[in-house]
Amino acid sequence: MYKLLKNICCIGAGYVGGPTMSVIADKCPNIIVNVVDSNKKRIDLWNSTDLNKLPIFEPGLEQIIKRCRGRNLHFSSNIRECIAKADMIFISVNTPTKKKGIGAGKASDLKWVEACARQVAEFSSGYTIVVEKSTLPVKTAEAIKSILETAQLSLGGDSKKSFDVLSNPEFLSEGSAIEDLENPDRVLIGGDNKKAIKILSNIYRNWVPEKNIICTNIWSSELAKLTANAFLAQRISSINAISALCESTGADVREVARAIGTDSRIGSKFLDSGPGFGGSCFKKDILNLVYLSNYFGLNEVANFWEGVVHLNNWHQHRISELIIKKLLGTITGKKILILGFAFKANTNDTRESAAISICRDLLEEGAILFIHDPKVDPNQISEDLKIKENIELKKYKEINYSEEGSWCSVINIKSSFKNADAAVVLTEWEEYSRIDWGDAAIKMRHPAWVFDARSIIEKDQLKSFDLNLWRIGDGSMVK
Ligand code: NAD
Ligand code: UGA
Repeated sequence: MYKLLKNICCIGAGYVGGPTMSVIADKCPNIIVNVVDSNKKRIDLWNSTDLNKLPIFEPGLEQIIKRCRGRNLHFSSNIRECIAKADMIFISVNTPTKKKGIGAGKASDLKWVEACARQVAEFSSGYTIVVEKSTLPVKTAEAIKSILETAQLSLGGDSKKSFDVLSNPEFLSEGSAIEDLENPDRVLIGGDNKKAIKILSNIYRNWVPEKNIICTNIWSSELAKLTANAFLAQRISSINAISALCESTGADVREVARAIGTDSRIGSKFLDSGPGFGGSCFKKDILNLVYLSNYFGLNEVANFWEGVVHLNNWHQHRISELIIKKLLGTITGKKILILGFAFKANTNDTRESAAISICRDLLEEGAILFIHDPKVDPNQISEDLKIKENIELKKYKEINYSEEGSWCSVINIKSSFKNADAAVVLTEWEEYSRIDWGDAAIKMRHPAWVFDARSIIEKDQLKSFDLNLWRIGDGSMVK
């Protein structure tokens, strides 16, 4: 029954499935890793010879793909065949918040996970270890097990199919996914079958020290993942709440963060105030926790966590309102250069990016936005803003009120400062810290403003130029 693990299949070739399986293939050359996805276009991109076309940008990923693709790492649309050959199947599909029905707006939509369980039940053969890699509400393993058990029973007790289900949540951050996967703080495995746990942990043992592999029961593992994200997001909301207070009192959030971060109980990481947390997971995972807490009748617990999301939404609108206020109370027809659209640097992912909500607010007020991001495709920005790109704007010379509430993408930041009333830094891309603000000041329309929601600009950098600077949480520069 416990044969040597030779073949892995991962269902879901997304931000988690793609990089995670690439690293496993790299570290375990004797295991065949097949990554499958129902989205054929995505699989084609993973297979493209031009590595710039990989569907996901992560530092270090290209090199691994070069080494392993076609060797022991394969991207395929043949889900049936890859499941049938696999000894272990990772479920790494999307688990977004439900849009309708019971729990809409909070609970996770598990239809993709259930579809996977059914595919595994139908196509697998022999003994298969099914691993939850997706972030899931506590007790999801129960649903997966019941689908798999039904498959076993429908074979009339035929021993050809048997399963164990484990939870192995992923803690990687986008932008540092490869580094996180290669040197994880910990690997978490939850389950009740010791042998199955051993088989999975043996994979990680190829590069992760044993002391960093934590084994728990399956429910603790599922809940630990939601809790980790809730704690991290709570830290961002906490520091962003303090940034607003700093701006009102003359304190500086960077100094406050440094002062509290030296307390080893608090720690210095994850204390950068910004435009509000984005990314596909923080909001959805907290809302999921809120839903679960309510479900178990723990309304105070639910309210506590919901506050983290409320603060984040409020904070994003606070920044849009502040921009409007500083630009003399109206931005209709004003040209604003947006620097960064991804939810953080070093990723092309825009899901839940603070830039979406802030840009929407500004467009609603009639601004003309010139949006730059080194990695985000303009089509993605159109999709996120629900407004098509107005390429006529690229000929922009001066205010044209008929263009209000529209946007275009920018390749050359330097020339885009021409006639701009403001520049707003929303993503901390390294190249934005090298902007020639002296040159920008000459090109902009005055009074001109720079809004730095990522603290990448030093006050002294702008001192000698005719530019007004607002920096997140910096009460020392309140005007
Ligand atoms: P994603 O949307 O990038 O990728 C999911 C992929 O699964 C999609 O390409 C989709 O086509 C495919 N898929 C869905 N159902 C399928 C099916 N039945 N058969 C085949 N393919 C199917 O999602 P992601 O960002 O990789 O996240 C996946 C899970 O991992 C989520 O639960 C998320 O919460 C969790 N997670 C994400 C991150 C992150 O940084 N993005 C980090 C840790 C955990
Ligand atoms: C986060 C967690 O860090 C991962 O451990 C987890 O696996 C992942 O969610 C997930 O489950 O999806 P990620 O969303 O990729 O990773 O990125 P983070 O680095 O956590 O940043 C999230 C958001 O918080 C970003 O918008 C970022 O700009 C913001 N942030 C982060 C701050 O505003 N300040 C900080 O100090 C840190």
